[in-house]
Amino acid sequence: MSEISLFENTLLSPEVQAQLPAGHTLRALRSNDYERGFLKVLEVLTEVGNHTKQEWLEQFNYLKQHNHEYFTITITDDKRDQVVAAGTIFVERKFVHKNGLVGHIEDIAVDGNQQGKKLGLRIIQALKFIGAQRGCYKVILDCSEKNVPFYEKCGFKQKEYEMAWYV
Ligand code: ACO
Repeated sequence: MSEISLFENTLLSPEVQAQLPAGHTLRALRSNDYERGFLKVLEVLTEVGNHTKQEWLEQFNYLKQHNHEYFTITITDDKRDQVVAAGTIFVERKFVHKNGLVGHIEDIAVDGNQQGKKLGLRIIQALKFIGAQRGCYKVILDCSEKNVPFYEKCGFKQKEYEMAWYV
C-alpha cells in the first residue's frame, strides 16, 4: 500500500526546512511512521502504550479524516529513515473573536539522543507557521516549569495557569 501523508506539503515552512541539519526533512505525519519509530520518540513525553500497526492506523486514519484540525509533523533523519522529532498543532473553532481559531500545540518530543540540536525549536517554528497559515489568532500550549525557558526561546510568553482534572 502506498504511503499516505496527513496533510499537504504547502503547510510545511520552507524556511524551517532550510534551517534543518543536513539529511533531515520536515514532513507531515505519514502512514508508515509507525515503522520509523514515531511512537518511540513520543516516549520522552509519557507512557505511550504498545500499539499494533492496526491500532496505529486507526488513529492515523481518524486524524486524516480530521486533517483540517489535526496537524502532526515530524523531522526525520533520512539516512536512518527514522523520526527524530515530532509535534502537533490542533486548530480549535470558537465563537469568540468572531468565529476565531485558536491553535493548541501538543506533544512536542525530540528523541533523547537528538536533544539540544535545535530540532525542538524547528518543530515549534513549523507549528507556528501552520497556525498562522490556517488563520489562528493565537497559539497556546501547556508545559512544565522546566520547559518554560525553551518555549520563551521559541517566542512564547507565560500567561494564565493550567488546571487539570483526571478521571
Ligand atoms: N531549559 C533551558 N533552555 C532550554 C531547555 C530547558 N529545559 N530546553 C531547550 N532549551 C534552549 C536550548 O538551550 C536552546 O537555546 P539556544 O537557542 O540559546 O541555544 C533553545 O532552547 C532551543 O533548544 P532545542 O535544541 O531546540 O531543544 P530540543 O531540541 O532539545 O527540544 C524539548 C526541547 C522539546 C523540550 C526536548 O528537550 C524534549 O523532547 N524534551 C522531553 C519532552 C518534553 O518535555 N516535551 C515538551 C512537552 S510540553 C508540550 O508538549 C506542549
